[in-house]
Amino acid sequence: MDAIRWKGNVLSLLDQTRLPVEEVWLDYTDYRPVAVAIRTMVVRGAPAIGVTAAYAYCLAALAGEDLDQARAVLAASRPTAVNLFWALDRMANRAEDCGGDPEALIAEAVAIHQEDVEMCKAIGLHGAAVVPEHARILTHCNAGALATGGYGTALGVIRAAHAQGKVEMVYADETRPLLQGARLTAYELVCDRIPATLIADNMAASLMAKGKIDLAVVGCDRMAANGDFANKIGTYSVAVNAHFHGMPFYVALPCSTIDLSIPDGSGIPIEERDPSEVRTLYGVQTAPAEVEVYNPAFDVTPHSLVTGIITEKGVVYPPFRENLARLFGNP
Ligand code: MRU
Repeated sequence: MDAIRWKGNVLSLLDQTRLPVEEVWLDYTDYRPVAVAIRTMVVRGAPAIGVTAAYAYCLAALAGEDLDQARAVLAASRPTAVNLFWALDRMANRAEDCGGDPEALIAEAVAIHQEDVEMCKAIGLHGAAVVPEHARILTHCNAGALATGGYGTALGVIRAAHAQGKVEMVYADETRPLLQGARLTAYELVCDRIPATLIADNMAASLMAKGKIDLAVVGCDRMAANGDFANKIGTYSVAVNAHFHGMPFYVALPCSTIDLSIPDGSGIPIEERDPSEVRTLYGVQTAPAEVEVYNPAFDVTPHSLVTGIITEKGVVYPPFRENLARLFGNP
């Protein structure tokens, strides 16, 4: 399964706002509508928006447009996932080296895309090693093939563990307000025939209390140097509930999602989205039109609630600040 394609100098995105009801691919030859697609979540998920922005940067180069301007417009699309800025920085560095040559930039974007899939597969294998036999795994939001270059981070762990015959059941939180768990994770699990049960977000604690979940694995949008991390709103509740029930809680991510320039989670910018996402449920009004709404897209989970950080280089355990620094070759 994939959600991002590049062919004949055209970027195609699977419109994730219409899944699972319709599979519609949208084509882009201009970077500006791609920035809109990121903001409106036609494409979403930290690694996926990084890959998409890299290709959009190529569209600007092909059109002979100002690359700094394109970088600024794309960077303004969503604030939390660091992969967006990581990918744009990498493209801008390449542009400096190659004088903005579109073919060289396309090769760089393709490399970012392919490396992301390879990192996900490595994350999957490292993560599968911590999954016990007959595992019942909880996940939140969508950190799957749709959210990455392909295969997924948290869902990559689940895919690899399933391939090893270890997965008894995956519980997918539906993930209000935009239902990435119900619409996207459940879709991926059903397509791959991985045993899946969809639950409303407020059901996870009761399953844990009944002893029906063995571990939780989630994705990440940005991790600070001490292991605090931002992920889809509701991740923090999963971590608190897992801690209370003595259950392992893992976060899976490529190193491109780690931002060592931020010392702890308090420095991670958190996107606030339109109130209509909470007042409505897929276009249907579910609350008074005038009611106040709080709608942060992400929350920050403190590293003290994390059992292990699953990366493409291996699983990192506490003390996280020291061990994450070591991952990047810093003593
Ligand atoms: O708002 P979204 O759908 O972009 O949020 C996505 C998540 O929170 C994912 O868990 C995260 O980006 C990791 S994707 C591998």
